[in-house]
Amino acid sequence: MVSGSDNTEATMSVFEAADGPGEVLSKVKEYGSTGRSSLILDEGESAIGKLRLVGVYDDRQEGHFMLRIRVPGGRLNWRQAEVIGEAAEQFAIRPDWERSTPQQFLEITTRQDIQLHWIRLDHLPEIWARLEEVGVTSLQACGDTTRNITSCPVAGLDPHEVMDVSPLVQQMNRYVLEHPEYGAFLPRKFKIAITGCRDDCILARINDLAFVPARRDAEVGFNIYGGGGLSDYPRLASDLDLFVTPEEVVSALKASVQVYKDFGDYENKAVNRFRRVVEELGIEATRREVAERLPFAARSAGEELSQGSRHDHVGVHAQRQPGQSYVGLAVPVGRMRGQEMIEAARLAHTYGDGGVRLTQRQNLVITGVANERAEALVEEPLLQKFTPRPATFARSVVACTSSPFCKFGILPAKELGLRLSSSLDQAFAGNDLGSLKLHVSGCKASCAQVQIADVGLRATLTKDEDSLYEAVDVSMGGSLGDGRLAEWVALEVPVPKVQQGLHELLTVYQDQRADSETFGQYVRRLDQATLRSYFQEV
Ligand code: HEM
Ligand code: SF4
Repeated sequence: MVSGSDNTEATMSVFEAADGPGEVLSKVKEYGSTGRSSLILDEGESAIGKLRLVGVYDDRQEGHFMLRIRVPGGRLNWRQAEVIGEAAEQFAIRPDWERSTPQQFLEITTRQDIQLHWIRLDHLPEIWARLEEVGVTSLQACGDTTRNITSCPVAGLDPHEVMDVSPLVQQMNRYVLEHPEYGAFLPRKFKIAITGCRDDCILARINDLAFVPARRDAEVGFNIYGGGGLSDYPRLASDLDLFVTPEEVVSALKASVQVYKDFGDYENKAVNRFRRVVEELGIEATRREVAERLPFAARSAGEELSQGSRHDHVGVHAQRQPGQSYVGLAVPVGRMRGQEMIEAARLAHTYGDGGVRLTQRQNLVITGVANERAEALVEEPLLQKFTPRPATFARSVVACTSSPFCKFGILPAKELGLRLSSSLDQAFAGNDLGSLKLHVSGCKASCAQVQIADVGLRATLTKDEDSLYEAVDVSMGGSLGDGRLAEWVALEVPVPKVQQGLHELLTVYQDQRADSETFGQYVRRLDQATLRSYFQEV
């Protein structure tokens, strides 16, 4: 569209308000491949906002973007993993003047996506062409869209699962991509998860919409939860008392998104996620509204088949396929070099059935490895760094993108997570600290899900007489399985004190824990004042 009376390209408006993901994708490709990407940048905020519809998010470094690649159910084949690794090596390149910032890496996210940084708009047509060739997209990975559909990372492999939801994940994903009226143009983002396994690795209750396995009479299907999420107004999703069969899942997805569109607030973006609709309508009315939009008679919830525990998939585990195992690699804070992903793809191809899966704990799984070859795989150099037999904190640490890339980041959360986890692992080497989750977020948006961790760290700024300095709010005792969000035990703690406090608390835990008491259970029986005392300056 040409705006105003001046008919030059400089005043051209690239995007129309009504442009959806498809139009934005075509235009970015067109401008990028004809050397005119700068026109998009010149248009400022409104154009940059549109880029989110195609998974492109403005990073702190001007002219450089984060590209979030959508990986439904976290499921890649080795060739897709290789292409993504190559893209990181070739395009995630910092400019010369940014020498101290990392480059050529990728991030595995808590919603089973992959993110690249340092991406330039004029490189996007080439990156997308390569991704499309192997059937991968970044469409609707950011912005006010139906985000990546997450699922159990070992769907189809887990010996105890109720059903393999992989085909359903693909079907749901296709539906929201092919129908932008359900996949975009929403009041805000909408996160969906589905699982057929008995664990809760999908973190059902922090999703806008979740399908968990259930049985009703003789039928196996899903119970539906709605209205969960974290950020700065956390809420656990409510049981909507609805049961659907696998064939009915897409209709239930459509009905729920429609309720969000009908009742959601398109104006006040700060507090307008689906959980606000559920909160304001009430659970019963939300159920009724969803039920009215279903093309079949709604049925009340069935008997739930999930046990609610959370498996991290790290280690060598037997698959349901006789004679095969999957091997879960701990990738601390989810960050790896492009070259390392290329090597993981090679290993998946050489040792396994070619499958590479991404987990909600920012780790990676190689699937379909013949049992007799699993130990040889474990001996490979890549698995010395991303080991299936990690120490406690290397296994447990999850961190958000944060600075130097995310504009909201107060401190580099991934670096802090890595530093803390390696120093605690060194300090407690040889001690069994059991299962423990350490999550680090760079600001209160809580992308690293601090509220559901045993120990959550959230960066903040605090003041002394002279200046502002970086500090950390500490939360403890989150446990999604028990329906408990963590409590903030100490605010604005200087970073060195966090490390010292955690070290002391873990030492006391080792002394005082009851037989099989986990760290999470231990901190939940301490009072707030006791916990706070570990993080106070004396
Ligand atoms: C540049 C800014 C941001 C970046 C780079 C970022 C990055 C991420 C990433 C990587 C994830 C994990 C997985 C994914 O969705 O693919 C995530 C999840 C999340 N984000 Fe952000 N985010 C940003 C802004 C925000 C803001 C402004 C909010 C809220 C006010 C927010 C709230 C969340 C929450 C609550 C999650 C939790 C994970 C989940 O729901 O599964 N994010 N974000
Ligand atoms: S938690 Fe804050 S700093 Fe971290 S990625 Fe999200 S918005 Fe950025």
